[in-house]
Amino acid sequence: MSKLDEQAIAILQKNDRGGYTVPTARLYPYQWNWDSAFVALGFLTFDRDRAWREIELLLEGQWHNGMIPSIIFRRDDPDYFPGPSSWQTQTACDPVPSIPSTGISQPPVLASILLTMVETGGEEDKRRASAVFDQVLKSHRWFQSERLSPVSNAITTVHPWETGRDNCPDWELGLNTMQIDPNLESYVRKDIEHANPDQRPSHEQYDKYLTMVKFGRDQNWNQKVITADGPFTMADPGIHFILLRANKDLLKLAKKMGKEDAAAELEGFVEHGNSASDYFWNESLGAFTARNLINGEFSNGFSSASALCFYAGAGSEQQHSRTIDHMKRIASKVKFMMPSWDPDADDFDPQRYWCGPVWPQMNYIIATGLEEHGHTQMADNIRRNLGQVIEQSGFRECFNPVSGEGCIGTDFSWTAAIWLAWASPSKQELAA
Ligand code: GLC
Repeated sequence: MSKLDEQAIAILQKNDRGGYTVPTARLYPYQWNWDSAFVALGFLTFDRDRAWREIELLLEGQWHNGMIPSIIFRRDDPDYFPGPSSWQTQTACDPVPSIPSTGISQPPVLASILLTMVETGGEEDKRRASAVFDQVLKSHRWFQSERLSPVSNAITTVHPWETGRDNCPDWELGLNTMQIDPNLESYVRKDIEHANPDQRPSHEQYDKYLTMVKFGRDQNWNQKVITADGPFTMADPGIHFILLRANKDLLKLAKKMGKEDAAAELEGFVEHGNSASDYFWNESLGAFTARNLINGEFSNGFSSASALCFYAGAGSEQQHSRTIDHMKRIASKVKFMMPSWDPDADDFDPQRYWCGPVWPQMNYIIATGLEEHGHTQMADNIRRNLGQVIEQSGFRECFNPVSGEGCIGTDFSWTAAIWLAWASPSKQELAA
């Protein structure tokens, strides 16, 4: 075990709040949905029981309708805004969720992580996966029943924060077609007290983010109304490809466990997902990109989510080869793959949140898909580049793809977890 492996373990232990892990102290003091799924992979390398606890505690926050919220607020922390008093799920929702939370979800990687936990484990892992299976299936059903777009067959995303790629330039399209609510209450941001404002979203963006929260609250978090009439409705290739993969992985689990009804239902979800992929194909760019559901407009940049078609096993040979051409072009422009936004775009910013930086969990899923499709050299570069930026800059939230400098949060949980599970050279030696 290397010094960095030891440091990574210490970070997960330090960020442990008694069964769940915060992404990083102060800036993100709660349990986040997709962070926890990736964090479980890290715990899996040294404490399987603790890995399962992470997931079981995440599922304690699941809503009655099946949604797994993006953030579970187990206690109110004055360091974070917008917290439980802004989302007001405990007063607006009927039935009331068991734990206060946001009113939106996040990329559903959970089923895919569960499959890995079962495939690398034994009887006890199967038993614990079986115990949570129905809850995970219910969360997939929620996307299908409450978030299906009324204008296309794609899944709707109702807030940039739901995509996990919070202020990627993709969302400008949806932000541009919406108005700030004139009755928005005044508020004090906390994020810029803990992180460099140059690396965080602008004030106008924040007003729009909070307009979406206000709309949801005013609709008592009725997801069907938010999907049909919300101020921001976009289709995200990230959510789409991750959900498609998750449906396929949950189907594998269902078959392993002999759950025939669930398997038949999941086959339907997979079929639907496959048929929705073309909605995201931007022919003039030659890539899968986000779209504004309000007017059908395509985003015109290649993002790290565009590269997830391999992970989902979606797209034609021709679509794959055009995607690979973009990735080769991008690799020639940066030192470290995979930037979250196209370095040739005007709004590329290597230090600003999702406008350029490399994100550890994205590298992991992008490379997993590439590897499965025979693009082993590119997959290997993406893994090694992540290892290099961590060696250079430590366990930061994300990294400048040009210089390798670390950005925003420090001692970050998913960076430590992805290192332990995948990017650490000692992990690769073990696998070899
Ligand atoms: C930021 C990221 C999001 C992540 C959260 C906690 O909001 O954009 O993807 O889940 O931080 O790490």
